[in-house]
Amino acid sequence: MHQELNNLKRKAHEHAEAYKHVVADDPYRLHYHLMPPVGLLNDPNGFIYFKGKYHIFYQWNPFETAHGAKFWGHYISEDLVHWDKAPAALAPDQWYDKNGCYSGSAVVSDGELYLFYTGNVKDEAGNRESYQCLATSHDGIHFEKKGPVIHVPPGYTAHFRDPKVFRHENKWYMVIGAQTEAEEGVVVLYSSEDLLNWSFLGPITGSRQNQLGDFGYMWECPDLFPLGDKDVLIVSPQGLAPQGFKYQNVFQTGYFAGEVDYQNVRYQHGDFTELDKGFDFYAPQTTLASDGRRLLFGWMGNSEEGDARQPTHEHEWIHALTLPRELEWKDGRLYQKPVRELKHLRKDNIERKDVTFESANPVSFDGINGNVFELEVSIIDWNARSFSIKIGKAVKIRYDTMEGILSLEREGFTPDKEMESRKCYLENLHHLQIYKDTSSVEVFVNHGEEVFTARIFDEPDAQSLVFQSDGQLTASLNKWNLERITEF
Ligand code: FRU
Repeated sequence: MHQELNNLKRKAHEHAEAYKHVVADDPYRLHYHLMPPVGLLNDPNGFIYFKGKYHIFYQWNPFETAHGAKFWGHYISEDLVHWDKAPAALAPDQWYDKNGCYSGSAVVSDGELYLFYTGNVKDEAGNRESYQCLATSHDGIHFEKKGPVIHVPPGYTAHFRDPKVFRHENKWYMVIGAQTEAEEGVVVLYSSEDLLNWSFLGPITGSRQNQLGDFGYMWECPDLFPLGDKDVLIVSPQGLAPQGFKYQNVFQTGYFAGEVDYQNVRYQHGDFTELDKGFDFYAPQTTLASDGRRLLFGWMGNSEEGDARQPTHEHEWIHALTLPRELEWKDGRLYQKPVRELKHLRKDNIERKDVTFESANPVSFDGINGNVFELEVSIIDWNARSFSIKIGKAVKIRYDTMEGILSLEREGFTPDKEMESRKCYLENLHHLQIYKDTSSVEVFVNHGEEVFTARIFDEPDAQSLVFQSDGQLTASLNKWNLERITEF
Protein backbone atom coordinates (compact mmCIF):
# COMPACT_ATOMS: atom_id res chain seq x y z
CA MET A 1 0.00 0.00 0.00
CA HIS A 2 2.55 2.58 1.03
CA GLN A 3 4.50 2.55 -2.24
CA GLU A 4 1.64 4.59 -3.61
CA LEU A 5 1.83 7.21 -0.89
CA ASN A 6 3.60 10.47 -1.48
CA ASN A 7 6.50 11.47 0.78
CA LEU A 8 4.61 13.07 3.61
CA LYS A 9 1.95 10.39 3.76
CA ARG A 10 4.66 7.76 3.75
CA LYS A 11 6.44 9.49 6.61
CA ALA A 12 3.19 9.54 8.60
CA HIS A 13 2.61 5.87 7.87
CA GLU A 14 6.17 4.95 8.90
CA HIS A 15 5.85 7.01 12.07
CA ALA A 16 2.63 5.15 12.96
CA GLU A 17 4.36 1.80 12.31
CA ALA A 18 7.38 2.78 14.42
CA TYR A 19 5.22 3.70 17.42
CA LYS A 20 2.60 0.98 16.98
CA HIS A 21 3.64 -0.95 20.10
CA VAL A 22 4.10 2.10 22.31
CA VAL A 23 0.57 3.17 21.40
CA ALA A 24 -0.94 -0.31 21.71
CA ASP A 25 0.60 -0.75 25.18
CA ASP A 26 -1.54 2.02 26.59
CA PRO A 27 -4.24 0.65 28.93
CA TYR A 28 -6.23 3.82 28.14
CA ARG A 29 -6.39 2.94 24.45
CA LEU A 30 -10.13 2.86 23.75
CA HIS A 31 -11.92 -0.33 22.68
CA TYR A 32 -14.74 0.90 20.47
CA HIS A 33 -13.97 4.52 19.61
CA LEU A 34 -11.95 5.88 16.70
CA MET A 35 -8.52 7.19 17.62
CA PRO A 36 -5.43 8.31 15.73
CA PRO A 37 -2.95 5.45 15.14
CA VAL A 38 -0.33 7.82 16.59
CA GLY A 39 -0.23 11.57 17.30
CA LEU A 40 -3.15 13.94 17.77
CA LEU A 41 -6.70 13.71 16.46
CA ASN A 42 -9.18 16.57 16.46
CA ASP A 43 -12.26 17.30 14.35
CA PRO A 44 -14.20 14.69 12.40
CA ASN A 45 -14.16 15.64 8.69
CA GLY A 46 -15.73 14.54 5.42
CA PHE A 47 -18.34 12.24 6.99
CA ILE A 48 -20.12 10.62 4.03
CA TYR A 49 -21.82 7.51 2.67
CA PHE A 50 -20.09 6.71 -0.64
CA LYS A 51 -20.49 3.60 -2.83
CA GLY A 52 -21.97 1.47 -0.05
CA LYS A 53 -19.57 2.52 2.70
CA TYR A 54 -19.30 5.14 5.39
CA HIS A 55 -16.17 7.27 5.37
CA ILE A 56 -15.01 9.33 8.29
CA PHE A 57 -11.90 11.46 8.06
CA TYR A 58 -10.32 13.36 10.92
CA GLN A 59 -7.87 16.16 11.65
CA TRP A 60 -4.60 14.39 12.31
CA ASN A 61 -1.13 15.47 13.36
CA PRO A 62 0.78 12.19 13.02
CA PHE A 63 4.11 13.46 14.32
CA GLU A 64 3.28 14.95 17.72
CA THR A 65 0.62 14.83 20.41
CA ALA A 66 0.09 18.53 19.77
CA HIS A 67 -1.61 20.66 17.12
CA GLY A 68 0.39 21.29 13.93
CA ALA A 69 0.22 20.86 10.17
CA LYS A 70 -2.87 18.66 9.94
CA PHE A 71 -3.42 15.67 7.67
CA TRP A 72 -6.76 14.05 7.01
CA GLY A 73 -6.72 10.58 8.61
CA HIS A 74 -9.31 8.15 7.28
CA TYR A 75 -11.51 5.24 8.43
CA ILE A 76 -14.05 3.25 6.39
CA SER A 77 -17.01 1.16 7.58
CA GLU A 78 -19.99 -0.74 6.28
CA ASP A 79 -21.97 -0.54 9.51
CA LEU A 80 -20.79 2.57 11.44
CA VAL A 81 -19.38 0.28 14.13
CA HIS A 82 -16.54 -1.79 12.67
CA TRP A 83 -13.97 0.43 10.96
CA ASP A 84 -10.96 -0.20 8.74
CA LYS A 85 -8.03 2.13 8.71
CA ALA A 86 -7.34 3.67 5.29
CA PRO A 87 -4.21 5.59 4.24
CA ALA A 88 -4.15 9.30 5.04
CA ALA A 89 -6.36 11.05 2.49
CA LEU A 90 -4.74 14.50 2.53
CA ALA A 91 -1.28 15.66 3.58
CA PRO A 92 -0.15 19.31 3.89
CA ASP A 93 2.15 19.27 0.88
CA GLN A 94 1.08 22.19 -1.35
CA TRP A 95 1.72 25.94 -1.17
CA TYR A 96 -1.96 26.53 -0.34
CA ASP A 97 -2.19 23.98 2.53
CA LYS A 98 1.41 23.64 3.72
CA ASN A 99 0.58 24.41 7.36
CA GLY A 100 -2.43 22.17 7.50
CA CYS A 101 -5.27 20.57 5.58
CA TYR A 102 -7.84 21.93 8.00
CA SER A 103 -11.41 20.78 8.55
CA GLY A 104 -13.98 20.31 5.84
CA SER A 105 -16.63 18.07 4.38
CA ALA A 106 -17.48 15.64 1.59
CA VAL A 107 -20.20 15.32 -1.04
CA VAL A 108 -20.82 12.87 -3.87
CA SER A 109 -21.51 14.06 -7.40
CA ASP A 110 -21.67 11.82 -10.49
CA GLY A 111 -20.14 8.90 -8.62
CA GLU A 112 -17.15 10.96 -7.55
CA LEU A 113 -16.20 11.91 -4.01
CA TYR A 114 -15.45 15.61 -3.47
CA LEU A 115 -13.59 16.76 -0.36
CA PHE A 116 -13.67 20.45 0.55
CA TYR A 117 -11.17 21.57 3.18
CA THR A 118 -9.32 24.66 4.35
CA GLY A 119 -5.73 25.10 3.29
CA ASN A 120 -3.96 26.78 6.18
CA VAL A 121 -0.81 28.80 5.42
CA LYS A 122 1.31 30.62 7.96
CA ASP A 123 4.41 32.67 7.23
CA GLU A 124 7.46 33.13 9.49
CA ALA A 125 5.88 36.15 11.17
CA GLY A 126 2.80 34.08 12.03
CA ASN A 127 0.52 35.73 9.44
CA ARG A 128 -2.22 33.43 8.33
CA GLU A 129 -3.82 32.76 4.95
CA SER A 130 -6.79 30.48 4.29
CA TYR A 131 -7.96 28.86 1.08
CA GLN A 132 -11.02 26.69 0.61
CA CYS A 133 -9.69 23.79 -1.43
CA LEU A 134 -11.01 20.79 -3.33
CA ALA A 135 -9.73 17.23 -3.70
CA THR A 136 -11.57 14.47 -5.57
CA SER A 137 -11.55 10.69 -5.71
CA HIS A 138 -13.12 7.90 -7.77
CA ASP A 139 -12.49 5.10 -5.30
CA GLY A 140 -12.71 6.90 -1.95
CA ILE A 141 -9.10 5.95 -1.13
CA HIS A 142 -6.89 7.96 -3.48
CA PHE A 143 -7.42 11.70 -3.67
CA GLU A 144 -6.30 14.25 -6.20
CA LYS A 145 -5.96 17.82 -5.07
CA LYS A 146 -7.50 20.46 -7.35
CA GLY A 147 -6.34 23.50 -5.37
CA PRO A 148 -8.22 26.50 -3.99
CA VAL A 149 -11.77 27.21 -5.13
CA ILE A 150 -12.48 30.10 -2.73
CA HIS A 151 -10.30 32.96 -1.45
CA VAL A 152 -11.15 35.03 1.64
CA PRO A 153 -13.55 37.81 0.56
CA PRO A 154 -13.10 41.48 1.62
CA GLY A 155 -14.34 42.29 5.13
CA TYR A 156 -13.13 39.01 6.70
CA THR A 157 -9.94 37.97 8.47
CA ALA A 158 -7.99 34.82 7.59
CA HIS A 159 -10.01 32.98 10.24
CA PHE A 160 -12.19 31.70 7.44
CA ARG A 161 -12.49 27.93 7.42
CA ASP A 162 -14.27 24.58 7.73
CA PRO A 163 -16.39 24.44 4.53
CA LYS A 164 -19.52 22.27 4.80
CA VAL A 165 -21.13 21.57 1.44
CA PHE A 166 -24.71 20.41 0.87
CA ARG A 167 -27.37 20.27 -1.80
CA HIS A 168 -30.62 22.22 -1.61
CA GLU A 169 -33.18 22.47 -4.44
CA ASN A 170 -30.85 21.65 -7.32
CA LYS A 171 -27.97 23.78 -6.19
CA TRP A 172 -24.85 23.27 -4.14
CA TYR A 173 -24.33 25.42 -1.08
CA MET A 174 -21.44 25.82 1.30
CA VAL A 175 -21.33 27.28 4.81
CA ILE A 176 -18.01 28.51 6.18
CA GLY A 177 -17.03 29.55 9.71
CA ALA A 178 -15.66 33.08 9.64
CA GLN A 179 -14.51 36.13 11.51
CA THR A 180 -15.34 39.64 10.33
CA GLU A 181 -12.73 42.40 10.44
CA ALA A 182 -14.64 43.66 13.50
CA GLU A 183 -13.71 40.29 15.10
CA GLU A 184 -17.19 38.87 15.26
CA GLY A 185 -17.84 35.20 14.57
CA VAL A 186 -20.25 34.53 11.69
CA VAL A 187 -21.35 31.86 9.23
CA VAL A 188 -21.21 32.77 5.54
CA LEU A 189 -23.03 31.11 2.65
CA TYR A 190 -21.80 30.34 -0.89
CA SER A 191 -23.56 28.67 -3.81
CA SER A 192 -22.42 26.77 -6.88
CA GLU A 193 -23.80 24.93 -9.91
CA ASP A 194 -20.80 22.69 -10.48
CA LEU A 195 -18.85 22.46 -7.18
CA LEU A 196 -15.95 24.31 -8.86
CA ASN A 197 -17.17 27.89 -9.24
CA TRP A 198 -18.55 29.39 -6.07
CA SER A 199 -20.48 32.65 -5.49
CA PHE A 200 -20.33 34.48 -2.20
CA LEU A 201 -23.89 35.13 -0.98
CA GLY A 202 -23.11 36.68 2.42
CA PRO A 203 -23.32 36.03 6.15
CA ILE A 204 -26.47 34.22 7.33
CA THR A 205 -26.05 34.64 11.08
CA GLY A 206 -23.40 35.38 13.67
CA SER A 207 -22.41 37.31 16.73
CA ARG A 208 -24.66 40.41 17.14
CA GLN A 209 -27.20 39.00 14.68
CA ASN A 210 -30.60 37.41 15.41
CA GLN A 211 -30.72 39.02 18.89
CA LEU A 212 -27.64 37.13 19.97
CA GLY A 213 -25.66 40.06 21.33
CA ASP A 214 -21.92 39.51 21.60
CA PHE A 215 -21.57 35.87 20.73
CA GLY A 216 -17.96 35.02 20.12
CA TYR A 217 -14.99 36.24 18.09
CA MET A 218 -14.88 33.27 15.71
CA TRP A 219 -17.37 30.56 14.74
CA GLU A 220 -15.84 27.23 13.75
CA CYS A 221 -17.17 24.18 11.94
CA PRO A 222 -20.69 25.21 10.84
CA ASP A 223 -23.05 22.49 9.62
CA LEU A 224 -26.47 23.43 8.20
CA PHE A 225 -29.11 20.79 7.46
CA PRO A 226 -32.86 20.16 7.56
CA LEU A 227 -34.14 18.13 10.52
CA GLY A 228 -37.87 17.58 10.98
CA ASP A 229 -39.46 20.86 9.91
CA LYS A 230 -36.43 22.96 10.90
CA ASP A 231 -33.18 24.15 9.43
CA VAL A 232 -30.63 23.30 12.07
CA LEU A 233 -27.26 25.01 12.27
CA ILE A 234 -24.63 23.33 14.41
CA VAL A 235 -21.66 25.54 15.09
CA SER A 236 -18.74 25.93 17.50
CA PRO A 237 -18.43 29.58 18.57
CA GLN A 238 -15.25 30.65 20.34
CA GLY A 239 -15.31 33.31 23.02
CA LEU A 240 -18.50 32.72 25.02
CA ALA A 241 -18.22 33.55 28.71
CA PRO A 242 -19.56 30.98 31.23
CA GLN A 243 -23.17 31.65 32.22
CA GLY A 244 -24.72 29.56 35.01
CA PHE A 245 -24.23 25.92 34.00
CA LYS A 246 -23.65 26.95 30.39
CA TYR A 247 -20.43 27.42 28.42
CA GLN A 248 -18.19 25.82 31.00
CA ASN A 249 -15.62 24.40 28.59
CA VAL A 250 -12.92 26.40 26.86
CA PHE A 251 -14.94 26.45 23.61
CA GLN A 252 -18.57 25.54 23.02
CA THR A 253 -20.62 23.63 20.49
CA GLY A 254 -24.34 23.98 20.04
CA TYR A 255 -27.19 24.40 17.63
CA PHE A 256 -29.78 26.87 16.42
CA ALA A 257 -33.10 25.89 14.86
CA GLY A 258 -35.04 28.08 12.45
CA GLU A 259 -35.56 28.74 8.80
CA VAL A 260 -33.14 29.65 6.03
CA ASP A 261 -34.33 32.08 3.38
CA TYR A 262 -31.97 31.18 0.52
CA GLN A 263 -33.36 33.95 -1.71
CA ASN A 264 -32.60 36.73 0.70
CA VAL A 265 -29.62 35.03 2.35
CA ARG A 266 -31.04 35.06 5.86
CA TYR A 267 -31.35 32.55 8.62
CA GLN A 268 -33.88 33.32 11.31
CA HIS A 269 -33.45 31.19 14.36
CA GLY A 270 -33.93 30.86 18.09
CA ASP A 271 -31.50 30.47 20.97
CA PHE A 272 -28.25 28.60 21.05
CA THR A 273 -28.42 25.23 22.84
CA GLU A 274 -25.29 23.33 23.78
CA LEU A 275 -25.24 19.89 22.18
CA ASP A 276 -23.36 18.09 24.90
CA LYS A 277 -23.29 18.96 28.58
CA GLY A 278 -20.06 17.14 29.41
CA PHE A 279 -16.39 18.11 29.29
CA ASP A 280 -15.12 16.80 25.98
CA PHE A 281 -17.12 17.53 22.89
CA TYR A 282 -16.33 19.87 20.02
CA ALA A 283 -16.49 20.52 16.27
CA PRO A 284 -19.01 17.78 15.33
CA GLN A 285 -20.07 16.99 11.79
CA THR A 286 -23.19 15.36 10.37
CA THR A 287 -24.09 13.42 7.27
CA LEU A 288 -27.07 11.51 5.89
CA ALA A 289 -27.13 7.75 6.40
CA SER A 290 -28.10 5.46 3.54
CA ASP A 291 -31.58 5.21 5.11
CA GLY A 292 -32.05 8.96 5.59
CA ARG A 293 -31.06 9.28 9.25
CA ARG A 294 -28.99 12.34 10.18
CA LEU A 295 -25.78 11.06 11.79
CA LEU A 296 -23.19 12.93 13.83
CA PHE A 297 -19.63 12.36 14.96
CA GLY A 298 -17.93 14.75 17.39
CA TRP A 299 -14.40 15.26 18.58
CA MET A 300 -14.24 13.79 22.09
CA GLY A 301 -11.90 16.57 23.15
CA ASN A 302 -11.59 20.31 23.11
CA SER A 303 -8.89 22.85 22.42
CA GLU A 304 -5.26 22.69 23.57
CA GLU A 305 -6.12 23.64 27.10
CA GLY A 306 -6.14 20.49 29.15
CA ASP A 307 -4.39 18.35 26.55
CA ALA A 308 -1.12 18.49 28.42
CA ARG A 309 -2.65 16.74 31.41
CA GLN A 310 -3.87 13.65 29.59
CA PRO A 311 -1.75 10.60 30.33
CA THR A 312 -1.95 9.16 26.80
CA HIS A 313 0.87 11.52 25.75
CA GLU A 314 3.30 9.00 27.20
CA HIS A 315 1.99 6.53 24.66
CA GLU A 316 2.32 8.96 21.75
CA TRP A 317 -1.34 9.56 21.02
CA ILE A 318 -4.13 11.86 22.17
CA HIS A 319 -7.90 12.29 21.66
CA ALA A 320 -10.65 10.29 19.99
CA LEU A 321 -13.96 10.68 18.21
CA THR A 322 -17.26 10.27 20.06
CA LEU A 323 -19.55 7.40 19.24
CA PRO A 324 -21.64 8.12 16.16
CA ARG A 325 -25.07 9.50 17.09
CA GLU A 326 -28.36 9.79 15.24
CA LEU A 327 -30.29 13.03 15.44
CA GLU A 328 -33.99 13.62 15.62
CA TRP A 329 -36.12 16.74 15.91
CA LYS A 330 -38.92 16.12 18.44
CA ASP A 331 -41.02 18.26 20.79
CA GLY A 332 -39.19 21.41 19.74
CA ARG A 333 -35.69 20.14 20.43
CA LEU A 334 -32.87 18.09 19.07
CA TYR A 335 -32.48 14.53 20.37
CA GLN A 336 -29.25 12.57 20.05
CA LYS A 337 -29.05 8.82 20.43
CA PRO A 338 -26.14 6.45 19.93
CA VAL A 339 -26.57 4.89 16.47
CA ARG A 340 -28.67 1.73 16.71
CA GLU A 341 -25.91 -0.26 14.96
CA LEU A 342 -23.90 -0.07 18.21
CA LYS A 343 -26.10 -2.91 19.49
CA HIS A 344 -23.89 -5.20 17.37
CA LEU A 345 -21.11 -4.70 19.93
CA ARG A 346 -23.17 -6.06 22.81
CA LYS A 347 -22.34 -9.38 24.48
CA ASP A 348 -22.70 -11.08 27.92
CA ASN A 349 -26.01 -9.46 28.84
CA ILE A 350 -26.94 -9.27 32.51
CA GLU A 351 -30.36 -7.96 33.42
CA ARG A 352 -31.90 -7.04 36.77
CA LYS A 353 -35.57 -6.22 36.54
CA ASP A 354 -37.50 -4.06 39.04
CA VAL A 355 -34.73 -3.56 41.55
CA THR A 356 -35.76 -1.44 44.51
CA PHE A 357 -33.03 0.73 46.01
CA GLU A 358 -33.63 1.55 49.66
CA SER A 359 -32.60 4.61 51.53
CA ALA A 360 -28.95 5.65 51.44
CA ASN A 361 -27.30 2.24 51.15
CA PRO A 362 -24.76 1.98 48.35
CA VAL A 363 -25.57 -1.11 46.27
CA SER A 364 -23.65 -3.19 43.75
CA PHE A 365 -24.73 -6.24 41.79
CA ASP A 366 -22.85 -9.33 40.69
CA GLY A 367 -21.88 -8.94 37.06
CA ILE A 368 -23.17 -5.39 36.79
CA ASN A 369 -19.73 -3.84 36.75
CA GLY A 370 -16.64 -3.80 34.55
CA ASN A 371 -14.29 -1.48 32.77
CA VAL A 372 -15.78 -1.44 29.27
CA PHE A 373 -19.55 -1.76 29.10
CA GLU A 374 -22.94 -0.38 28.17
CA LEU A 375 -25.45 0.11 30.96
CA GLU A 376 -29.10 0.94 30.56
CA VAL A 377 -31.04 2.16 33.58
CA SER A 378 -34.82 2.49 33.25
CA ILE A 379 -36.36 4.16 36.26
CA ILE A 380 -39.83 2.90 36.99
CA ASP A 381 -40.69 4.59 40.23
CA TRP A 382 -39.17 7.58 42.03
CA ASN A 383 -39.66 7.96 45.75
CA ALA A 384 -36.27 9.40 46.50
CA ARG A 385 -34.81 12.83 46.42
CA SER A 386 -31.70 11.81 44.53
CA PHE A 387 -30.11 8.89 42.75
CA SER A 388 -26.50 8.38 41.78
CA ILE A 389 -24.29 5.93 39.92
CA LYS A 390 -20.60 5.85 40.65
CA ILE A 391 -18.36 4.32 37.99
CA GLY A 392 -14.98 3.33 39.38
CA LYS A 393 -13.54 6.20 41.40
CA ALA A 394 -13.44 8.70 38.59
CA VAL A 395 -17.06 9.27 37.55
CA LYS A 396 -20.33 9.97 39.30
CA ILE A 397 -23.67 10.65 37.65
CA ARG A 398 -26.29 12.11 39.96
CA TYR A 399 -29.81 13.43 39.64
CA ASP A 400 -31.44 15.58 42.29
CA THR A 401 -35.23 15.80 41.96
CA MET A 402 -35.63 18.84 44.23
CA GLU A 403 -33.12 20.89 42.31
CA GLY A 404 -34.00 19.30 38.97
CA ILE A 405 -30.29 19.04 38.22
CA LEU A 406 -28.36 16.26 36.55
CA SER A 407 -24.62 16.29 37.11
CA LEU A 408 -21.60 14.43 35.84
CA GLU A 409 -18.65 14.55 38.17
CA ARG A 410 -15.23 13.34 37.11
CA GLU A 411 -11.82 13.12 38.63
CA GLY A 412 -9.64 15.84 37.10
CA PHE A 413 -6.51 14.98 35.10
CA THR A 414 -4.13 17.02 37.23
CA PRO A 415 -1.96 15.21 39.81
CA ASP A 416 -4.25 16.28 42.67
CA LYS A 417 -7.19 14.71 40.75
CA GLU A 418 -9.67 17.12 42.27
CA MET A 419 -13.25 16.33 41.23
CA GLU A 420 -14.87 18.66 38.69
CA SER A 421 -18.44 18.70 37.47
CA ARG A 422 -20.77 19.68 34.65
CA LYS A 423 -24.48 20.12 35.21
CA CYS A 424 -27.73 20.79 33.45
CA TYR A 425 -31.34 21.34 34.42
CA LEU A 426 -33.59 18.38 33.72
CA GLU A 427 -37.28 18.14 34.55
CA ASN A 428 -37.23 14.45 35.32
CA LEU A 429 -34.95 11.49 34.88
CA HIS A 430 -36.38 8.21 33.64
CA HIS A 431 -33.69 6.67 31.46
CA LEU A 432 -29.92 6.54 31.23
CA GLN A 433 -27.83 4.81 28.60
CA ILE A 434 -24.18 4.83 29.58
CA TYR A 435 -21.29 3.85 27.34
CA LYS A 436 -18.12 3.34 29.32
CA ASP A 437 -14.88 2.70 27.47
CA THR A 438 -11.39 2.34 29.00
CA SER A 439 -10.95 6.12 29.24
CA SER A 440 -14.27 7.71 28.29
CA VAL A 441 -17.89 7.88 29.27
CA GLU A 442 -20.90 8.98 27.21
CA VAL A 443 -24.20 9.33 29.02
CA PHE A 444 -27.41 9.55 26.98
CA VAL A 445 -30.22 10.92 29.13
CA ASN A 446 -33.94 10.20 28.61
CA HIS A 447 -33.39 8.66 25.16
CA GLY A 448 -31.35 11.54 23.85
CA GLU A 449 -32.77 14.63 25.55
CA GLU A 450 -29.28 15.41 26.90
CA VAL A 451 -25.82 13.91 26.45
CA PHE A 452 -22.75 14.18 28.67
CA THR A 453 -19.39 13.18 27.20
CA ALA A 454 -16.10 13.00 29.09
CA ARG A 455 -12.66 11.49 28.90
CA ILE A 456 -11.71 9.92 32.23
CA PHE A 457 -8.48 8.42 33.47
CA ASP A 458 -9.38 6.17 36.39
CA GLU A 459 -7.21 3.28 37.61
CA PRO A 460 -6.85 1.35 34.34
CA ASP A 461 -8.50 -1.76 35.83
CA ALA A 462 -11.33 0.03 37.67
CA GLN A 463 -14.39 -2.26 37.71
CA SER A 464 -16.90 -1.04 40.27
CA LEU A 465 -20.39 0.29 39.73
CA VAL A 466 -22.21 1.58 42.79
CA PHE A 467 -25.81 2.76 42.93
CA GLN A 468 -27.21 4.93 45.68
CA SER A 469 -30.54 6.62 46.34
CA ASP A 470 -31.71 8.58 49.35
CA GLY A 471 -35.21 7.19 49.43
CA GLN A 472 -36.91 4.45 47.51
CA LEU A 473 -36.37 4.06 43.83
CA THR A 474 -37.28 1.19 41.50
CA ALA A 475 -35.36 0.61 38.30
CA SER A 476 -34.43 -2.05 35.77
CA LEU A 477 -30.79 -2.51 34.86
CA ASN A 478 -29.38 -3.97 31.71
CA LYS A 479 -25.66 -4.35 31.19
CA TRP A 480 -23.57 -5.63 28.32
CA ASN A 481 -19.86 -6.02 27.79
CA LEU A 482 -18.85 -4.54 24.46
CA GLU A 483 -16.72 -6.10 21.76
CA ARG A 484 -13.34 -4.53 21.04
CA ILE A 485 -13.17 -3.16 17.52
CA THR A 486 -9.96 -1.17 17.68
CA GLU A 487 -6.92 -3.27 17.13
CA PHE A 488 -5.22 -0.15 15.83
C1 FRU B 1 -11.65 23.15 15.28
C2 FRU B 1 -10.54 23.65 14.38
C3 FRU B 1 -11.07 24.04 13.01
C4 FRU B 1 -9.88 23.88 12.12
C5 FRU B 1 -9.21 22.66 12.73
C6 FRU B 1 -7.71 22.64 12.64
O1 FRU B 1 -11.18 22.32 16.30
O2 FRU B 1 -9.85 24.72 14.98
O3 FRU B 1 -11.64 25.33 12.96
O4 FRU B 1 -10.21 23.68 10.78
O5 FRU B 1 -9.62 22.61 14.09
O6 FRU B 1 -7.21 21.42 13.06
